[in-house]
Amino acid sequence: MKFHIATIPGDGIGPDIVEQTLLVLKKIGEKFGHTFTFTETLAGGIAIDQVGEPLPQETLTICKNSDAVLLGAVGGPKWDTLPGDQRPEKALLGLRGELGLFANLRPALLYEPLKEACTLRSDLVEGGLDLMVVRELTGGIYFGERGRRQGKYGEEAYDTEAYSKPEVERIARVAFEIALKRNKRVTSVDKANILESSRLWRAVVEEVAQDYPEVELNHLYVDNAAMQLVRNPKQFDVLVTTNMFGDILSDEASMITGSIGMLPSASLGKNSLGMYEPIHGSAPDIAGQDKANPLATILSGAMMLRHSFQLEEEARAIESAVIKVLEQGYRTGDIMSVGMKQVGTTEMGQLVQENL
Ligand code: IPM
Ligand code: MG
Repeated sequence: MKFHIATIPGDGIGPDIVEQTLLVLKKIGEKFGHTFTFTETLAGGIAIDQVGEPLPQETLTICKNSDAVLLGAVGGPKWDTLPGDQRPEKALLGLRGELGLFANLRPALLYEPLKEACTLRSDLVEGGLDLMVVRELTGGIYFGERGRRQGKYGEEAYDTEAYSKPEVERIARVAFEIALKRNKRVTSVDKANILESSRLWRAVVEEVAQDYPEVELNHLYVDNAAMQLVRNPKQFDVLVTTNMFGDILSDEASMITGSIGMLPSASLGKNSLGMYEPIHGSAPDIAGQDKANPLATILSGAMMLRHSFQLEEEARAIESAVIKVLEQGYRTGDIMSVGMKQVGTTEMGQLVQENL
């Protein structure tokens, strides 16, 4: 089969890690008889520098005409002082919104060979950790009305959290469908003791649950969920939540695995076009030095094969190759530990290719 992939290397280590991922995808193509074509395009700080805006129209057009988008990372200190709507991060929100990518899947997986890296006491993660955060990605406070106004005490600023029924319904369905293929448990996270938008969220999730009698549903307030994640993370299978709560909880979930440099993500919409990116940032301090860990991006490539191209076997081939490389003791600096062999970005990419 033939697939067109738009690539957005972006800023910092983005180009380093995307390069290795493309090589892995090429190798998969050769092995399984697929053709992947890549169109590189600009977004983030590099786009600000080269064409004066974080998300050029041309980039959007290229992405819309592709079967999937692979993104490295955007942002860096160089652009931190720009006004909100001109910052590199704006490119991410623009892509999510314009491509209709309302469902963000962020698996938090503790890789057996890396279990030492876990920041929690080992008895709390005995037998491994495998949870999936399903974050709503195109609604809520990220996209709600915001502004400045004159208030009682002078200038004030506001951001609005709003959710419609259909927005909640579609993300809930994604979560239940995923749970069906996993351990059949969904935890919906909200702040329904305070927020009206959360009360609607909870009611709609309850309604959707009626269609999935084999899935067990429970609800947690976000403060409790944040606490439970570090107290007993193994109680969770699929967590579904709003844009902002999902932003926060997915960082927490990934960090307890100890290997934020390992975790991929997928952003999906109602058709097969998805955007795939590592959940870590652009790490400008090590950019271009062959030091970055390419595995999260390579694993994002695997998610692309699975979710956008329906190539499950090929996706698993990448995931097993990554595990094999870790079992062989190879580590990039971020996941290095005593007795292991430290390698750079390029060598790590090559090792994955060799193990395919
Ligand atoms: C993420 C990031 C983004 C977000 C930023 C960079 C806009 O934190 O993908 O989690 O808040 O969604
Ligand atoms: Mg975040």
